[in-house]
Amino acid sequence: MQGNPFDFSGRHVFVAGGSGGINFGIAQAFARAGASLSLISRSADRVESAASRLRELGIDAIGVAADVRQPDAVGRAFSQAAARFGPIDVLVSGAAGNFLAKALDMSPNAFKTVVDIDLLGSFNVLRLSHEHLRKPGACIIQISASQASVATPYQLHVSAAKAGIDMLTRGLALEWGAQGIRINSIIPGPIQETEGLRRLAPTPETLKAMADRVPLKRLGKIEDVSRVAMMLASDWGSYITGTVIAVDGGLFLTGPRDFSAAAQASRRD
Ligand code: COA
Ligand code: NAP
Repeated sequence: MQGNPFDFSGRHVFVAGGSGGINFGIAQAFARAGASLSLISRSADRVESAASRLRELGIDAIGVAADVRQPDAVGRAFSQAAARFGPIDVLVSGAAGNFLAKALDMSPNAFKTVVDIDLLGSFNVLRLSHEHLRKPGACIIQISASQASVATPYQLHVSAAKAGIDMLTRGLALEWGAQGIRINSIIPGPIQETEGLRRLAPTPETLKAMADRVPLKRLGKIEDVSRVAMMLASDWGSYITGTVIAVDGGLFLTGPRDFSAAAQASRRD
């Protein structure tokens, strides 16, 4: 193997849901490694401001407003990104929505909204990316969650959607492997200073309870996740596909979580 495996100069990284949080942190890591970045998210302001922060690092980046629930908009965003930076070397699919709610407090539309964003949205992103992926060589990283495999009260919508996402990872590893496309899921643990964790642990008490459950006894940092994303996308990950990798300080070993106190604290009424 020649050169620095973590030099992404000349590579094109596309991040769906890239305007903030963990996904933006992954985008930043690839930008610092020299890649050109394409970001999409719903809000034109947020996604353009995120792209502009990346350009301050001295690389090229574009931000395109596209809701992953709208295939036409996602398709246009891929065409625009490929016209600008060429074939996609790394695709990160991480657009998601979440809230704590008991099954009986969720309308069919509440459940559907999260499944539409997380699961159907990921399907749209993956399917529409295909014609623009570098073949062979592209690496896809899906951002999943522990709810995919650990039964979690107040999280039925997310559990169903993320379980589906991990099965997309496994199925596409089989369908697209012969074209030299790798795909894996990352399961972040509770990552500090993110919107996702604010929704699941809205008070100092629930945050502390979450950190105490983690075998490594700390919350995760965005860079804990972005480093693994970079490893998967580098030559060091060249024989890894179809896997689901937990980056969670061992939280997956501890079984179902009790979100009742957090759900009480985050009630809408
Ligand atoms: N409890 C129960 N139902 C809820 C809810 C809650 N806390 N929050 C929203 N809903 C319901 C709404 O009432 C609506 O259902 P209804 O039409 O039957 O009333 C449905 O969910 C859709 O809500 P809406 O606000 O129209 O959806 P949206 O598409 O504008 O936003 C969300 C999507 C709800 C997921 C919103 O929280 C969001 O944009 N999240 C993105 C950020 C995020 O969640 N980050 C963490 C990622 S892990
Ligand atoms: P976040 O900052 O809210 O990130 C979600 C991103 O998705 C935002 O950029 C948002 O931008 C975008 N998005 C939401 N709905 C969209 C849609 N319909 N179309 C396009 N983009 C959309 O939350 P986060 O906590 O960093 O979470 C990032 C990922 O990590 C998610 O997949 C989440 O499930 C996963 N995760 C997080 C944690 C955690 O501790 N935070 C733990 C496990 C898994 P716009 O609002 O501009 O659309």
